[in-house]
Amino acid sequence: MNSSPGVPYRVAEFYAVGGFHYAFLQSGTSSSTPEEDGVVASIDVNTNTTAIYLHNFPSTNQMRRNICGMTASELDSFRANVFFLSPPCQPFTRQGSQRDNQDRRTDSFFHLMHILQEMQCPPDYVLMENVKGFECSNTRDEFGRVLQSLGYKFQEFLLSPSQFGIPNSRLRYYLLAKRKPLTFAHEEHSGVGQPSPITDPEIIIKALQSNMQSLGSLSCNKDIEDSI
Ligand SMILES: C[S@@+](CC[C@H](N)C(=O)[O-])C[C@H]1O[C@@H](n2cnc3c(N)ncnc32)[C@H](O)[C@@H]1O
Repeated sequence: MNSSPGVPYRVAEFYAVGGFHYAFLQSGTSSSTPEEDGVVASIDVNTNTTAIYLHNFPSTNQMRRNICGMTASELDSFRANVFFLSPPCQPFTRQGSQRDNQDRRTDSFFHLMHILQEMQCPPDYVLMENVKGFECSNTRDEFGRVLQSLGYKFQEFLLSPSQFGIPNSRLRYYLLAKRKPLTFAHEEHSGVGQPSPITDPEIIIKALQSNMQSLGSLSCNKDIEDSI
């Protein structure tokens, strides 16, 4: 992920426990000027979660809020050009009843999709994470429609840390969206409008290496890839 030259990343982190914040810092994409480049707002409804977040990142503008009550103008006020989204995964998890958009725990995500469309300045980038199972949900299809209608291109991936040499088997769905005219380094992997989860770690590593200098030493575990 590279911002336009000279334009710093200003991230709003929704459903924020802090994992994305750490990942962002470790990705090497954040510069050292937190006022202009960094996580400028984080939002979560849970008291314990927000306390943990504040403990780890005391200078972040942390909001204990229900996303269902947020407005488009509030989102605009963050002046964020990146949104990190990690909505509740219970409606999609393979071990659950997979009620998808019939599960009230998707309400806040649908609200977010709604107010995203009302924003004056939607973010240039959206990064979303969820469990395997999300890629074949109605919620995912609606999110794709919303992104497309707002002029985003997006790519989807199913990835596990074990594919990157990390001893943790945790297959997850990731969606990256960039607002036109921004483009992807590997456009051929765009899957707009239809599920196209990509599981080839070599492709991901190539894309990451072309975007993030600090990930140059990652290696791929082909055996694990083949077993997915
Ligand atoms: C799976 S966790 C996200 C973890 C995130 N990937 C990370 O590492 O930081 C989902 C979070 O969504 C929050 N959440 C659920 N419904 C919400 C709502 N309506 N408004 C705000 N936060 C909500 C929960 O409190 C929980 O902390």
